[in-house]
Amino acid sequence: MNEHDMQHQLLVQKATASAEQAHESVSGDYYRQGFHIMPQAYFMNDPNGLVYYKGEYHAFFQHLPFSVHDGEKVWGHVKSKDLVHWEYLPVAIAPSQFYDRNGCYSGSAVDDDGMLTLIYTGYIEREGERTAIQMQNIAFSEDGIVFHKYDGNPVISDPPEDGSLADFRDPKVWKHEDTWYMVVGSSKYGYGKTLMYRSRDLRQWDYIGVAAESDGSMGQVWECPDMFPFEQNTHVFLTSSLIIENGAITGGKNLYMVGSLNYEQGKFTSEYVGETDCGCDFYAAQTLHDDQGRRILIGWMDWHAAPRIEAANNWFGSLTIPRIMTLLPDGGVQFTPVPELQQLREGHQRFKDVTLREGVRGALGDISGDCLEIIAEFELEDAEPAAEFLIALRRSELHDQETIISYNSETETLTFNRDKSGNDFKGSKSCSLPPMSGGRIKLHIIMDRSSVEIFMNDGRLVSSNRIYPHPDSQGLDVYASKGTVKLRQLDLWKLKRVMR
Ligand code: FRU
Repeated sequence: MNEHDMQHQLLVQKATASAEQAHESVSGDYYRQGFHIMPQAYFMNDPNGLVYYKGEYHAFFQHLPFSVHDGEKVWGHVKSKDLVHWEYLPVAIAPSQFYDRNGCYSGSAVDDDGMLTLIYTGYIEREGERTAIQMQNIAFSEDGIVFHKYDGNPVISDPPEDGSLADFRDPKVWKHEDTWYMVVGSSKYGYGKTLMYRSRDLRQWDYIGVAAESDGSMGQVWECPDMFPFEQNTHVFLTSSLIIENGAITGGKNLYMVGSLNYEQGKFTSEYVGETDCGCDFYAAQTLHDDQGRRILIGWMDWHAAPRIEAANNWFGSLTIPRIMTLLPDGGVQFTPVPELQQLREGHQRFKDVTLREGVRGALGDISGDCLEIIAEFELEDAEPAAEFLIALRRSELHDQETIISYNSETETLTFNRDKSGNDFKGSKSCSLPPMSGGRIKLHIIMDRSSVEIFMNDGRLVSSNRIYPHPDSQGLDVYASKGTVKLRQLDLWKLKRVMR
């Protein structure tokens, strides 16, 4: 170990000890998730370095290990054999060098012939300058736990002409034939862009060109790009883009594009554009490829402008459950929960052929819970043109608290509404959801202590959301608010909690 390495290991140990110590008191918080990745304590944002390595799934994440509000980003780390039980590991990398002194920003991981290699952005603030500099770096580990930064860092110190100094981050690397490729998020003149590089050895990188860019409606800065080979000779490109108005972040867009990639010219041609998630809390998604050939996506189930409710309890941030991506016949992508999550199910209840009549509550009897899985199929074919059904979750006895998922057959929209979810945390989000054949709407809902993820029509669309109801608000009801709706079948399970 050289001096730089020793210094880095000391910083890593300090960061790890800080989050570990705070974990004891934080883990008692009611809003801690039961089966989602969270930081042991303090702050989390993007998933980083998702990788299947030596028979296990590793997930790293942007993390502040000393404070829930501010500080310099390190990479937190968890691993799992089954994508459900995640083990907390020591912090992987922390700012220690001139090239990452104000933060180890987002990036990816690859298995380089047994060497787990992280490729990340070093964030450097400059005195008296408004914008920071960003550079790409690498770090290695033989055991997948202790990481050593490369002595030759940065491996890319300057952006090309097509990018900009202040927005040059989040490298995602993959191998195609014998060559490594990298996409990096950027921006130029207010247009989000993705820059593409190639390398033989992960150390020496050559710029190829702009792989994809915004058409003017897709956000000013593209962050966290991901590019990967997909089914039927396609490639999929993912981007998280910032919408900036008067210097402030006012929104985020999560897009996926299915198309083809020309490796020689570094040019991606998109044939289908879809939304990766249409919920209130989702950003910076990344994918991995596992030994079963599955493409699995995990996102940050919050975003930069989220209200950070649990920060009052000294922690903030959750990732989504892992979702399998598959190609749909029309060229779009379907997202479905990994089947490994089914091991959490207990106490199955099934309801069949229930007619939901306008205004009649409680048709399913007394059902409740705060960690639940629901799979429901509704039929609207014979319903009046303006039928509407509702699923009320986390309802209090007086009904003054509840989280509402509603579907309106006239507008063909699904709405998630958290105006009454608790903690004065308000808002709703709608997505357009045409019914499946036979006028069917299928909803697969996975609810943890402080989140609701809704997979619609077999995963054609997904909506991820955080909620903070009172622990006693656990009622569940399914009813029609307009017309008559047929509930073909509803399966309900309680879900075991395995994380703390
Ligand atoms: C996305 C992002 C990345 C950056 C990281 C910093 O949420 O802004 O672009 O690397 O967060 O934590």
